[in-house]
Amino acid sequence: MQKLLLKNIKQLIQVRETGLEVIKGKSMRELPLIENAWLAIEDGRIADYGGMDDFPGISDWKGLEVIDCSGRIVMPCYADSHTHIVYAGNRELEFVDRINGLSYEAIAQRGGGILNSSALLRQTSEQELLEQSRVRLKEIQSLGTGAVEIKSGYGLDLDSELKILRVINALKEESGMPVKATFLGAHALPKEYKTDKAGYIRLVTDTMLPAISAEGLADYIDVFCENGYFTAVETRLILEAGQKYGLKGKVHAEQLSHSNGIATAVACGAISVDHLEYCTTEDMALLQQSNTIPTILPGAAFFLNLPLPPARQMIEHDLPVAFASDYNPGSSPCGNMNFMMSLGCIQYKLTPEEMINACTINSAAAMDVLNEVGSITIGKRANIIITKPISSYAYIPYAFGNAPIESVWINGQKNTL
Ligand code: NIG
Ligand code: FE
Repeated sequence: MQKLLLKNIKQLIQVRETGLEVIKGKSMRELPLIENAWLAIEDGRIADYGGMDDFPGISDWKGLEVIDCSGRIVMPCYADSHTHIVYAGNRELEFVDRINGLSYEAIAQRGGGILNSSALLRQTSEQELLEQSRVRLKEIQSLGTGAVEIKSGYGLDLDSELKILRVINALKEESGMPVKATFLGAHALPKEYKTDKAGYIRLVTDTMLPAISAEGLADYIDVFCENGYFTAVETRLILEAGQKYGLKGKVHAEQLSHSNGIATAVACGAISVDHLEYCTTEDMALLQQSNTIPTILPGAAFFLNLPLPPARQMIEHDLPVAFASDYNPGSSPCGNMNFMMSLGCIQYKLTPEEMINACTINSAAAMDVLNEVGSITIGKRANIIITKPISSYAYIPYAFGNAPIESVWINGQKNTL
C-alpha cells in the first residue's frame, strides 16, 4: 500500500469536511486552512490531516515516503470545467488578423474561426489528434489541473465528432484524473450546411446523438448559443434531445451578445452556463432560482478584449461562481489556471479566497466531480499541488504569468514531465 506523508506544510488550504456543496456568495470569501500542517495519503486518497502540534505518532514508518513541505503551500488541484483541448493545429494567423483590426465575428463570417479549426481537424488522423491533445493535457496537469472537462465541436460531421470524443475518452483512460466529455456538435454551422441549418440540427439530434450514446462517449451536451451560431430556441431543442440520451446540458451563453442562453440553460436544468459577458440582473435572478453554475472564462474575455462578465455582482447575488480556462485555439490558447486566478483577482476584483473557491470547489461542481476532488477532504483523491516556497497563497494570483508550483500529484503519484 502506498503511504505518503507531507509534513511541515506552511499552509494546507481548502480543508473541508465531507458532504461539501458549492460555495455561494459571501461564503466564497472563506478559505479554511491549517497553518503548519501535515497531510497523509494512502493508496492515492487523502487519509488524514492535522496541525504539526498534534503530529501523529507513527508506529510503522516502513514504506512511508515523507516529504518536507517547509515554506510551501499545499492545496487541491484546480478543476478546469470548460476546455476544448482536443483540436488540431493553431490559429495564430487569425490572432494577427485581429491585431490588424478584424473582429472575431468578422473572421468567422469569412469562413475562419471555428470552421478553420474544423477543416484542419477533419484532415488530422485520430492518432495524430491524440498526440497533439495529450501534450496539452500534460501541460495543464503540470500547471496544477487535476480534473478537466473537454468538449468536442471542431468536427461538425459525424465521423469527426466521434473521432474527437474517442480521443477525449482515450485521455480519460490514460490520464488517471477525472475527465468529463462534452458533445458540442452545435458549436458552429459547417459549410456543407450553410443554407440548411435545420438539416444540421437534425444531424446533431437524430444522427450524431444516437451514435455517441451507443458508444457511451459523452457525459454532457453543449451548445454555442449566440448570434450567428444557434438561437435560444435551437439551443433548447438540442439540449432536450441530449437529455433523452441522459446527457445533462452545458451552454456557451451571452458571450458576444445577449442571446437568452442563460434563461434557456436554466429552463433545461443545465449543470453550468459559461462565458456570460452580457449577463443581466434578470439573468442573475434566474440563476438564483436554479442549480445551474455560472462559469466565467476570463482567458477568452482577455484574449478577445470583451467586456468583463459581472462576476463580482454575481457573488453579491449570492451565486456560486466558478472559473475555468476555456483552453481552445480561437479564443483562449491558454490552460494555465494560475493565470485565470490572476485575471479573476486583477480584472474581476475577486479576492484570492474567492478565486480559489471558484477554481476548485465550484468548478469541480460544474463538472460533477466534487465528490472526488476540489478540496482537502478525507477520502477524496490526492490530486494536490505543492507550491514552491512562497509567503502566502495570495502570491499565486499576485505573481501573474507565473506558476509558483513545485510539484503536482495525481492520485498520490507525482506528475513527472
Ligand atoms: O468557448 N465560444 C465558442 N467557442 C469557443 C471558441 C471557439 C473557437 O474560436 O475556436 C469558446 O470561446
Ligand atoms: Fe468554450
